[in-house]
Amino acid sequence: MQVLKSLDELRAWRSLLEGSVALVPTMGNLHEGHLKLVDMAQQQADHVVVSIFVNPMQFGKNEDLDAYPRTFDADCAALIERGTAAVFAPTVADVYPRGLAEQTSIEVPGISDILCGASRPGHFRGVATIVAKLFNMVQPDVAIFGEKDFQQLQVIRLMTADLSMSVTVLGMPTERADDGLALSSRNGYLSESERAQAPIIYQTLQQSAAVIQQGMVIETAEQQAREILSQQGLRIDYVEVRRRSDLQSPQPEDRELVMLVAAFLGKTRLIDNLAFDR
Ligand code: PAF
Repeated sequence: MQVLKSLDELRAWRSLLEGSVALVPTMGNLHEGHLKLVDMAQQQADHVVVSIFVNPMQFGKNEDLDAYPRTFDADCAALIERGTAAVFAPTVADVYPRGLAEQTSIEVPGISDILCGASRPGHFRGVATIVAKLFNMVQPDVAIFGEKDFQQLQVIRLMTADLSMSVTVLGMPTERADDGLALSSRNGYLSESERAQAPIIYQTLQQSAAVIQQGMVIETAEQQAREILSQQGLRIDYVEVRRRSDLQSPQPEDRELVMLVAAFLGKTRLIDNLAFDR
């Protein structure tokens, strides 16, 4: 596996490459969820590039940028086992040579300001900008993202379409622990007792989807879910049912829905979602 630690190294390697390329953008601390994206990428293209870059532009001032787990050697070992062609791990100076304050950025309006975007102002500007930069740097044919970050995936899909980018964006179902908890690098922040509580999020999503499918009014199901999660000790950021395409409130005729949750267990903010039809 090629370990490319600068844009120059990436460009030199990429210019000699023949065949198609699939990119899996990550912030490292890879778990089985990421590795499943790599497996899917292998089926989509001749070469798989995994980027590892903890993107400062998508973290708010009081968020966990400094604490974000960095496990580069273990990540590389796992990627070698999965047959990755190259890992691209640029420095912050390489990605943002003029600093962040005056960096040109990409804003996907509307969808970036709701749900996680309302709680984390500027987050999706940071995500859209780094993903666009990675697409320009790596020049992939296909890029793979996890559906756990459902809003992120929709933001990236809209950005790619709006800017006529020739990258095919694919989403991959959320990888879960045996008890249903969505795999996430942030699960590592949970204490033992918080980890034991965390599966209630997915259980609540499943119950809520089932009662909506049985005819319960969406607002009632959302409220019930909020009560269950609060009773279990979670501090709710949002619990919302939205239509899948643009994450706006569903109209009576909308059939393709997704329920999204963001909630704190202690200091850890967890997100999850469940897509369902009614
Ligand atoms: O999902 C992530 O890990 C990040 O948001 C991404 C897409 C790699 C951009 O930094």
